[in-house]
Amino acid sequence: MYKLNDGREIPEIGFGTYKLKGHSGVQSIVSAINNGYRMLDTAYNYENEGTVGQAIAESSVKRSDLFVTSKLPGRYYQYDDAITALQESLYRAHLDYFDLYLLHWPNPKKGMYPEAWRALIDARKFGLVKSIGVCNFLPEYLEKLQNDTGILPAINQIELHPFFNEAKMRKYDADNGIITMDWSPLGRGSSVMSDPTLNELAAKYNKSVGQIILRWEYQLKTIPIPKSSKTSRQKENLDIFDFKISDADMSQINLLTKADGRVHDQDPAEYEEF
Ligand SMILES: NC(=O)c1ccc[n+]([C@@H]2O[C@H](COP(=O)([O-])OP(=O)(O)OC[C@H]3O[C@@H](n4cnc5c(N)ncnc54)[C@H](OP(=O)(O)O)[C@@H]3O)[C@@H](O)[C@H]2O)c1
Repeated sequence: MYKLNDGREIPEIGFGTYKLKGHSGVQSIVSAINNGYRMLDTAYNYENEGTVGQAIAESSVKRSDLFVTSKLPGRYYQYDDAITALQESLYRAHLDYFDLYLLHWPNPKKGMYPEAWRALIDARKFGLVKSIGVCNFLPEYLEKLQNDTGILPAINQIELHPFFNEAKMRKYDADNGIITMDWSPLGRGSSVMSDPTLNELAAKYNKSVGQIILRWEYQLKTIPIPKSSKTSRQKENLDIFDFKISDADMSQINLLTKADGRVHDQDPAEYEEF
């Protein structure tokens, strides 16, 4: 467990749920929980908070032993809308609270994220959420939150994998007591997985490429949230705590990053999502 800047604890790895919906989605998420994942990452915009809630109800693990994250979409960044959308998310998931609630995208041209942040601060006071954070935030947006409210997010969830390793943003987060969480930690199963260096390291450590990547992210002191619909991969992705990547090999992986390495071409300063 890591300690957040609000004193609460968070698991070192989580389970992504994007695209897991309906009956098969429930089955995949129940399998993930039963395989040992304790953190689940959903969002209003994934339209699967109901699926996640159903999986929690069907699993053999107590709600209090799980850490559930959801996210507020940009179209609800006005204060009242934000509180209502959050309540709606909780109703859909059949939960009383989220462990972590994040602003999904900064959408800086709209300039609404500071108001949404104030709503999250109050939502925490109301008991609707335990911890609050953001996704896809750049330093200038975090500074704005700090200057407006004096409260920095506990988590900044950003695209992070070997082809886009976010060294500057990670340092900024760490210097400011914010934990970096990695979305698309496996590059969404793209060409990252066939990279020759990663495949050589997988052979060297007798691990899969996915395990090398997730272990690297763990050793960077970030929190990966890999998604898999398959039980065998869910187990594989969790099985990263019995080996250590050497400093020299960590450096080799660090060199794989590219300026245009984003898998989804979503630069938070430009890309908007509501
Ligand atoms: N905040 C944001 O803006 C944001 C944006 C994107 C995503 N997210 C969150 O981050 C989570 C993870 O990101 P992601 O779903 O985009 O991508 P990801 O976790 O990097 O990759 C998932 C893909 O990789 C495959 N995969 C999983 N484990 C594998 C393994 N061991 N070997 C080979 N392939 C493997 C999966 O296929 P199978 O399912 O077939 O195994 C799936 O196609 C999402 O689910 C979501 O919760 C947040």
